[in-house]
Amino acid sequence: MSRIHTIDGINLHLGTPDPTEGEWIGQREVLKQLLACWLVVDPRDLPLTPRLVGTPGIGKTTLAISGARQRGQELYIYQCTADTRPEDLLVTPVLAESGKIAYHASPLVTAMLRGGICILDEGNRMNEKSWASLAPLLDHRRYVESIVAGISIPAHPDFRCAVTMNEDESTFEIPDYILSRLQPTLTLGHPAREDELAILKYHLPFADDQMLSLTVDFLQEAHSLNLDFSTRDGINILRFALKRIAQDPTHPLARDDAWRESLEKCLGQDAVDLKSLADKKNQSLGGNNVPMGLADFFFSPNDPLHPDSDFDDDDFDDNDDDDEDDIDDIDDLDEGDDETTGRR
Ligand SMILES: Nc1ncnc2c1ncn2[C@@H]1O[C@H](COP(=O)(O)OP(=O)(O)OP(=O)(O)O)[C@@H](O)[C@H]1O
Ligand SMILES: [Mg+2]
Repeated sequence: MSRIHTIDGINLHLGTPDPTEGEWIGQREVLKQLLACWLVVDPRDLPLTPRLVGTPGIGKTTLAISGARQRGQELYIYQCTADTRPEDLLVTPVLAESGKIAYHASPLVTAMLRGGICILDEGNRMNEKSWASLAPLLDHRRYVESIVAGISIPAHPDFRCAVTMNEDESTFEIPDYILSRLQPTLTLGHPAREDELAILKYHLPFADDQMLSLTVDFLQEAHSLNLDFSTRDGINILRFALKRIAQDPTHPLARDDAWRESLEKCLGQDAVDLKSLADKKNQSLGGNNVPMGLADFFFSPNDPLHPDSDFDDDDFDDNDDDDEDDIDDIDDLDEGDDETTGRR
């Protein structure tokens, strides 16, 4: 299998596919929705690039991998970060031993050329400039322009893509023109009890029933209280607890104690009492809402006419009561600045 693809005389060195297994357990509907996005139902039809969203550890990447496995296509995963540049996403120039420049195709471009599936993982960590380089790929044009290699790269008809996104705050706002190319949005929820038990058993088939049920009880209670502990957290708690029990066969730790210790070490002391953690979370959410007065319905918060505004007549030309600005304004007056005088 040739790992070099030539476009307009430029040799692109292709990457290798990702071998990760992706068994998706339960929640059939969201998997079917993902597979539907990738169907082409008519020669004039085009595949969709969906957004898979949900809290960390809920299964977004696993779902995308599983969808790719079901279609039996090569899988490529690009891990997006805040400092991803367009050339990282597309083609990177590398100095070869010969002293010449070699062009390396990213996982995305490799998938485009080989007719594979690319998962852009954690897409909302990436900045607008990098997203902009994908705009023509994500609509009917289906190509990218590599500025570095000076070529236009068309996508194979079998190329498919999905983007996973977290709902946390350490992310960029993706511009609307990109979001409108990343549709539909498939939102993952937490698994039901039997599914979550099956997921834990699948990943830790050597865990005994007592440890499994302690973990699944904990996770289900956390889900019902809207706390963001995920299946991944459950897998980690269980894994560490089982290691601690196996560590000293002559004086094994009590199973309950090992599990509780693992819970604390993985998720912190607060996770031991889920109810009070949920209360704290609710209080802090409620605490952010400053109570509204009648005036708030009629005036925007910055409106100088708002009765609670600390606006003062001296600031008439400038709502911002920053002292430095005021000094600047005085300087402007001294210099007889036309614009300032005009405004007054
Ligand atoms: N339905 C499922 N079937 C099988 N495994 C699952 C399922 N849901 C979650 N998992 C397991 O839970 C763990 C976390 O899943 P994954 O890494 O896909 O989450 P994620 O949503 O992509 O997280 P992040 O936002 O941190 O990237 C993995 O070990 C995954 O295999
Ligand atoms: Mg992920």
